This record gives sequence, structure tokens and C-alpha cells, in this order.
Amino acid sequence: MKIAVLTSGGDAPGMNACVRAVVRSTINYGYEAYGVFDGYKGLVEGKIKRLERNDVGQILNRGGTILGSSRLESFKEESVRQVAIDNLKALGINNLVCIGGDGTFKGAAALNEMGINCIAIPGTIDNDIASTEFTIGFFTALDTAIDAIDKLRDTSFSHQRCTVVELMGRNCGDLSIFAGIACGAEIVITKDTGYNEKNVLQQVQKAQKSGKRHVIVVVAENITDVTELARKIQENSGYEARASVLGYIQRGGTPSSFDRILASKMGVYAVDLLIEGKNGYAVYTKSLDINHIEIDKALTVENRPSDLYKYLGKLN
Ligand code: F6P
Repeated sequence: MKIAVLTSGGDAPGMNACVRAVVRSTINYGYEAYGVFDGYKGLVEGKIKRLERNDVGQILNRGGTILGSSRLESFKEESVRQVAIDNLKALGINNLVCIGGDGTFKGAAALNEMGINCIAIPGTIDNDIASTEFTIGFFTALDTAIDAIDKLRDTSFSHQRCTVVELMGRNCGDLSIFAGIACGAEIVITKDTGYNEKNVLQQVQKAQKSGKRHVIVVVAENITDVTELARKIQENSGYEARASVLGYIQRGGTPSSFDRILASKMGVYAVDLLIEGKNGYAVYTKSLDINHIEIDKALTVENRPSDLYKYLGKLN
């Protein structure tokens, strides 16, 4: 059995941990692992290489993706996908793990339909794959955003300013909402909250009247022009206002503990699915629900056995 792995779409911290898990796990089962370089584009160009255990050493803690990534519009065309399939078949590879966002998932579904056994793993900082609670990379990007907003708060406070900060997420507001909560932003604007300029200006005025020395407004990308919004806030309130677009810095950096573990588990899980003969599946996680229980009952709950130790042997 031969299993190939690729990363596609926007890179996300933790992708390397996932690649490592797929490769090591495949090899530990006694099978051959392959890396596809530069996503679907590389697959079409035949950039496929056998990977050994040590090829994925020293990458668990690295941001980006050692395999490289790309976006390939023409992969929607069957004839282009056929070239990719021919390249895999020429090496006798019939199994492919695709790590990425929704574009990657679409590619994996289409390849699966054409006879390549595919498993899709959610890897994107946007957290915009609805089937999973969290995507690989989301929490690391969130930490980066939080760190930046904390720093913006220092200068915002010092100068009694309103700071408008734009975060990534494509059309998903999760990075902004989570960062807004974690940083105590006064105002958060996403697709989910809706955007009404008049309301925002009123909220800023209210914050000022309540005695706030400064205000942080977090805005998800693709909602409005943050420089223009900052200008209007300055015009309509007593605050000086500044805009910051955080940009691509959110995509880089060493993956958080959460992302490393999520990525490792998902990589191992994907290989297990293929070995069980399953294909056409997307891996997901559901975990962080908040609930309540009587305190005395909480004290009698038995320790939950964790299966995490089972992953150790597959990752070395
Ligand atoms: O999907 C990740 C992401 O960084 C989005 O947040 C952003 O909208 C997009 O990718 C930017 O894409 P590109 O790297 O093609 O400019």
C-alpha cells in the first residue's frame, strides 16, 4: 500500500505536524509514504517523492508547510485532475491525504470520485470548515492575533485612541470573535454580528461617554475598509483613530500545543481510515462544549481514560 500526502490552499501552522503524522504512521504500518510538493499544482506537475521517517524529522514545531502549497483554479477541470491521477498511478499510488481548506476538500472529493482513495483533513487558519469544530492552524493564528492586539492595546491606551484591527478569516468571523473575547475588544464586527456603520459609531461614542480611555474594534476581513472606518470614527468621536491590517503574519509561526496535537491525531486517524479501506471521508473534531453538572456529582465522576498515549507509537 502507498499513501501520499499533500497540503493545499493557504498554509496553516500545524500542517507539518500533520504531514509528519501521516508519513510516520504509514511507515510504521509497513507501507510506503509519499509527499506531493506544492499542492494540487505539484500533483499535476508530477512533483511526488517517496518520504522516509527522517524526511519528516525536525518539522513538528515548524510553521508553514515543508511540502509547499498552492491554489490551482484549473483543478476544477476533470482533464487537469486526470493528469494528476495519471501521475499518482504511474507511481502505483492509490491513496491520498489532502490537508487544507474548503478548496482542498473539493479537490479531494473530486479525485475520490475519479478513483483515488482520498481523505481530507481540515487545515486552515480560518476555521471555516463547518463539519469540524476546529481546523488545524486556527488556534495558533488566534494566538498570533491576540499577541498583536495586546500590543496594539498598549499603544492605543497610551494615546487615548480607537484602534481598528482587521483579522483574516476569508468569509468566516471565528478568528475575530475568538480574538475579540480573548482580548476584551470593545467592538467585534463579523458576518455573524452584522455590520452597521451607524451602530458602530454610536457604540464608540458610548464607550467614550462611559469613561473608556481607548477602544479596540476587531473587524473580520471582507467586511469593510478598516482605514475608512477608522477615519469615520475619528470624525464622529473624541478619539483619534488608527487602523491596522494584521495580514499574513497570522499564517506563520510555530504551531501551538493544541494544533500540534490536533494535527498529529488527525494525521494518524486519516491513515487508519485508508488502511481500513475507507475513502471519501473528511476528518473532524468536536470537543470544546461548555455544560454544567452538580458539584457533588462532579466530584464522583471517574477519570476519563485518555487514548492519547496510543498515538505515541505511531508518530515516532
Ligand atoms: O485561507 C487562509 C487565508 O489566509 C484567508 O484568511 C485569506 O482570506 C486568504 O487565505 C488569503 O489568500 P492568499 O494567500 O491567496 O492571498
